Formats: sequence, C-alpha cells, structure tokens
Amino acid sequence: MRDYGKIKTWKLDGRTVYVQFEKQKMEITVLTDEIVNVFVPIWSEDHRSKAIEKEDLERVYSQGFTVNAELKKDENGTELVITTGKIKTIVSDNGYVDFYTLDGKAVSREFRGERVPIKTLGIWEMELLRAEGHTVADTVLNKPVSDTRVVGKDEPIYGLGDKMGLLDKRSYEYENWNTDDPSAHNEQYRSLYKSIPFVICKKPEYAYGLFYDNTFHSYFDLAKENKEYIAYSADDGNLDLYFIGGGSIKNVIGNYTFLTGRTPLPQLWTLGYHQCRWGYSSAKDITEIAEKFRELDIPCESVQYDIDYMDGYRVFTWNEKDYGPKGELFEKLYKKGFKPVVIIDPGTKREEGYFMYEEGTKNGYFFRNAEDTEDYVNEVWPGEANYPDFGRDEVRKWWGKHVNDLTDMGVAAIWNDMNEPASFKGPLPEDVVGYDEDRKTTHRELHNVYGHFMGKATYEAMKEHTKKRPLVITRACYSGSQKYCAVWTGDNQSLWSHLQGMIPQLCTLGMCGFAVNGVDIGGFGSDTTPELLCRWIQASSFSTFFRNHSANGCTRQEPWLFGDDVVDIYRKYVKLHYRFLPYIYDLMHEEQENGLPVMRPLVMHYEDDPATFNLNDEYLVGEKILVSPVVNPGERVKKVYLPEGKWVSYPDGKTYEGKNYYLVDAPLDHMPIFIKEGSIIPMYGEMSYVGEKKMGTLELLLTKGAKNLIHYQDGGEDLSYLQGNYNLYDIKVSEAGEVSCELLNKAESVPQYEHFKTICLNID
Ligand code: GLC
Repeated sequence: MRDYGKIKTWKLDGRTVYVQFEKQKMEITVLTDEIVNVFVPIWSEDHRSKAIEKEDLERVYSQGFTVNAELKKDENGTELVITTGKIKTIVSDNGYVDFYTLDGKAVSREFRGERVPIKTLGIWEMELLRAEGHTVADTVLNKPVSDTRVVGKDEPIYGLGDKMGLLDKRSYEYENWNTDDPSAHNEQYRSLYKSIPFVICKKPEYAYGLFYDNTFHSYFDLAKENKEYIAYSADDGNLDLYFIGGGSIKNVIGNYTFLTGRTPLPQLWTLGYHQCRWGYSSAKDITEIAEKFRELDIPCESVQYDIDYMDGYRVFTWNEKDYGPKGELFEKLYKKGFKPVVIIDPGTKREEGYFMYEEGTKNGYFFRNAEDTEDYVNEVWPGEANYPDFGRDEVRKWWGKHVNDLTDMGVAAIWNDMNEPASFKGPLPEDVVGYDEDRKTTHRELHNVYGHFMGKATYEAMKEHTKKRPLVITRACYSGSQKYCAVWTGDNQSLWSHLQGMIPQLCTLGMCGFAVNGVDIGGFGSDTTPELLCRWIQASSFSTFFRNHSANGCTRQEPWLFGDDVVDIYRKYVKLHYRFLPYIYDLMHEEQENGLPVMRPLVMHYEDDPATFNLNDEYLVGEKILVSPVVNPGERVKKVYLPEGKWVSYPDGKTYEGKNYYLVDAPLDHMPIFIKEGSIIPMYGEMSYVGEKKMGTLELLLTKGAKNLIHYQDGGEDLSYLQGNYNLYDIKVSEAGEVSCELLNKAESVPQYEHFKTICLNID
C-alpha cells in the first residue's frame, strides 16, 4: 500500500512529468510511445542506471514520442492523466500509478490492498492456510522499495533471466542476488547467477513488461502468495519501474531490448561447437582432445582453457610448465582450425611481486573493507584474493589492458567466471566499499552488477583492440549485459531434470535479450550417461552457445568415451548444427533489428493458443523450425505439439496438420524437428569448422509453397558489416522450382555465393 499523500503540484517539462505528493516526489518519463518510466527517489535523487547507458538513452531519445498531461479532479480525488501515442498512465493520490491502453482497457494497475496470502479461492483452503500460519514472508514485507500489481488469475508470467522453474513463472517466488551455489539447482531455487528484474505479463488481449531497474537485492512473488497480484520489493535503492507496452510478447521484447540494448552480431565461428572440461590440464590434453575431434569427424571450433592454464590460478598468467611457451600451443592448434578461448576469474591473488596484485594495490583498484582502511580480502581459486572494483572506468581500462595482452597472445574469446563474485570464505559483506564511477558506495549496491561491469571491461577492450566482434561469455550479469556478453547457465549437473530445465531457462534468457546463450551440454557436475549425453546434444543442437563442459572429478564427457553408437549420434547432431548455421546467423542478424532471440518459446509466435503458454519441452528456432527434444530417460516416442499451420518433419518430409498433438517416433538417434510449410531454410554443406572451406554454395531447403527468403552473409569476424560490408540476398523460388536472386546490399569485400542448390522436403 502506498501512502505518499495527495498530489500537491505537477509540471510537464519535455518528456518528464514531475509530481510532488504531500510526502514524496515522483518523475514519470515518456521514453517512447510504449515505454514509460516511473522514478521514485526513495534512496537518491540521482537517477542512474547500469542497464540503460548513455548510448541506449540517446538511441531511445532519437525516436519520436508524444506526451500530454492533464489533471482531473472529482469527489474521489485527483488523477493526473499522462497520454502517449499508445499508453495512458494515470497517477493518483497516494502515489498509485496505473497503465491503460488508449481505449481505456486496464493493463497494469497497482494493487491497493494489504498483501494477503491466498492460494486458492476455496474458502476451506483459505482458512487452512491461515490456520497453519501462512503469512507473507517477513523477508519481503516492509521493504523500503515495493510495488504490487494486479494480474488476472490465469495470466502467464515470463521472464527473470536464468531462474529455474517452468517457462510460465506464475506461482514461483524469486530473489535477485547473484549467487554461486554448487548444489544441484532445483525448481524451487530462488536465485542463481544472474539478476534480470524484468517480467512479461500476458493478458489475453495485451502483453506488457515490467522492468524494475534496481541493483540492490530484490524479490519477486509472481502470484504465488495470492493469484491476484505480483509483488516486487527491494532492500534499498529507488523504485525505478519501466512499464513496457507492446501488446504482443514479441513487441515487448523488442521494446525492452530497444531500451537496454541488443546482443551484437557474433563472429560466425563462435556459434559453432566448443569442447571444454575443467581438467584438461596440459598442452598434451588439449591437443589430444582437439585431434580426436578431427579424427572422428566431429566439427569443433575450440577446446577451451579452464583455470589450469594459469600459473597457480593467477589471472592473466600462463602455466608454461604444463602448457608450453606462451602462444605456441595456440599457433599449433589455429592451423587445425581451433581458436583459443580462455577463462578469466576476477579474484586476484594477493602475493608480493605478482604484477596484478602490485598494480592493483598501488593504484587502489580493489574493493576496500567497510572502514575503507585496507583492501578487502576473501578467498577463491588462487587462495587469498582481492576483488577489482569494476564500477570505475579506470579499473575497467586497467583490466582491459591485460585482456589485450591475452588477445595479443592469440586468445580469440574470453570466458568470464566467478563474477557474482564467488568467494570461498563466506559472502562478501554488504558494507565492503567500492565505487559506481565517481560515487563511493558499497557492495550492497554493486553486487548484482559486478559481472556486468567485468563483462563491459572485457568486451570494450577486445572490441577496440582486435577490431573484431568480441565473444565474452559470462556467468553473472545484470539487465543490459547482453550488449557485452553471451551467457551460459553455470554449474548445472548431469541430471535429467537439468536437461528438462534447459528449455525454459534458455527460452527465458532469450526473452530477456540474451540471444547468445547455452548450458553445459552433458551437465557440468555429476556423472553423465550415454543416453543423457545423446539426448542433451540433440536438445542443444540449435544453441547459440554450443558447448560440452564438465567438472574435474566427474565422469569425462567426450562422446568417444561412451562407445561408437554415441559417437555416431553426437556427430550427427553437431553436424546438423553446422548445416543450419546460416539460418541461425540470419536470425542473429535479424535480432539486431527486432531483439528476438534464436531459441524461442512457442508462445512467442502463437500467443492466442493456450497449449503454448507453458510448453516446456519444445522450442522454436526463429519462426520456421520447431524442435521437440526427448528429455526423459527410456522414452522412444515423443508427444509433440504442433501449433497452427502445416509442419514438415525433417528430414523425412512427412507433413503434419498443426493445432494437434502427435506421437512421433524418437529412437535414441532421432530428435523430432519440423519445418513450417512455406519456409525456405538456408543451409551450408558439411565442414569441420568455420573457415575450413570457402562456402561457395548455399543450399536451400524448400517446403511446399515456399516463395522467398532474405538471407544475410558477411565476413563473419570483423566490424565492417556495420559500415555496410555485407551481402543481403532476396532469394525467390518460382512455382516451377526455379531460383532467382536479387542483391539488396552488396558487400565491398565479401564474395557472393557461386551456386544455390535446392533440397525439396515435401515437394514432389
Ligand atoms: C566454476 C565454473 C566452471 C569452471 C570451474 C573451474 O565452477 O562455473 O565452469 O569449470 O569454475 O574454473
């Protein structure tokens, strides 16, 4: 319940309406006709954001907008009505803010009552719940920042990044406090590595988003304690809510990513297959693994370097004893098409004479203790360690300089880990001192953006220095980090429940702007089995971050350790990924424009079909491919839901009528894949790695009624595409099956395809 008192004064200035209540100030800013910000300076008048940076605001502000504000008074009180081209925001006495469509339909209204836990409307159960003492958890009541909003009883809720649980997050509660917890993440986990305080609520006639931009520890109850509302609260900071309209889920995602930034187009090779293990602990290990991939004809881009490549886990050092002279192994493997991807941890070993420690200490680059008398110390892999204070530009630049040393040595991509930040001797106290640029603050505010700032430091240095599109993979991050980082979901385990959880988790990350995402295929902790590994490589085969990774001490996870049958299945699906690479790349290109990820839940394109609202064992790749992996042991037939339209099974070409469930054969070597009839899918021929061969031929997978395809092609590595150095093809197929092509954009230095080859899927 809000209690700001009556509206005393108000003023519209530019895009912002300044409202003074009796007890509180509020600013309502119109960012676009569909995005409205409500800022209540509870903690500070200084309206700062980590998610929305200067460049983001400039982009948003360059759009046209309309705003009109008028005060309406009647016997019930005062209302300030703020109208944009598409949304009506009504601010009432006491500080309530409600959002409506222009024709007056309520979209998101504040809940005016007390929070009361009512799980069902059955009177007996209500009484039972109360009798058993179910109350609103003390942890979320009386927080300085809170916002409780009405939702319809059956309306699905999506979002919150990497959180566990089903796709529809209704009836779960979560916390945003970036957490490294090595135990098996289960459905009830409240917090994981990332903080993305953004939800999408789907009303039958209008989908909208709520982004609560606040980096302090925050809490979401998504209609769990009461079906009638969702409740947000935070330990500190301001109420800084972005209401994101749009009407459809796609538009809401488009608007959210327009505001917080989009995942930039990655280098083509980074979308290929990667192999990793914490435990490839020498040049010999890495080389043997790499060679085995080539020998068994399983495509692969990198065998990644986990912490052992460092000298005693000292960040930015090289373990010459086990990995040979600097750069030598990289060079040797580059020749075979393997690009070096190395892990980086922020925890910097405290040791006299170690350059990072010396530089960081001398210049005051580390977090300080609460009294600000000495550098704060905790423990991570190298033992006692300090934590770089990434909130400051000069610290990011210092870090970036060392990132440049790595890329100078040949490193092609960087994997940022342990950046929640992790600490072995208890969590970092909230009063540890750090900076938000020039402003002194504490870890309480900085914790959830630690990984974000580390990602920004890494990305900006790599981009500037290498002039290529950086791949920075991160474990921890915040909203907006998608501008800098690809994400993986941290330490999952070799469990069927984690394979199942992957689909909603990755779909959700994509809905929150993280278009390049993936999980550790096979499971990181615990011991995988042949069947689980086969089903996992299948289910992941359209992933944008496509990596098998496992932990020291668990069963090794290279496919050849599980027998020839597993190798055959594994190879088949890694190759399948490469065949579809041009389609995935087209989607990444389109994502720059529309903000939509590659891997999508069905509800994103079939919003009126309730069968898709909480579908957790299928996903779409773009709009044209539907994948229905087997995620249960022993299952050899998959129940598949196909939404509206006709769907053609790949590769056998059988046509299915949509809006139906089917039982489809799914022996261990098969995952059901369907292509939407009327589509053309661009494909490459086989390759062992990106760049192995010149791709002179583009294959076109045709389905009945297919007419045209817009296809993108560039050099795959550098940034010249931003200056127009790319080919954009408008490919048409006539009824007689003849292919014609018009170039909508011609690259300066990217050779065009020499041939188009058609493959007919369900055409005689
Ligand atoms: C963390 C990472 C994992 C890595 C390990 C050792 O647990 O999440 O991927 O292998 O540290 O560096």
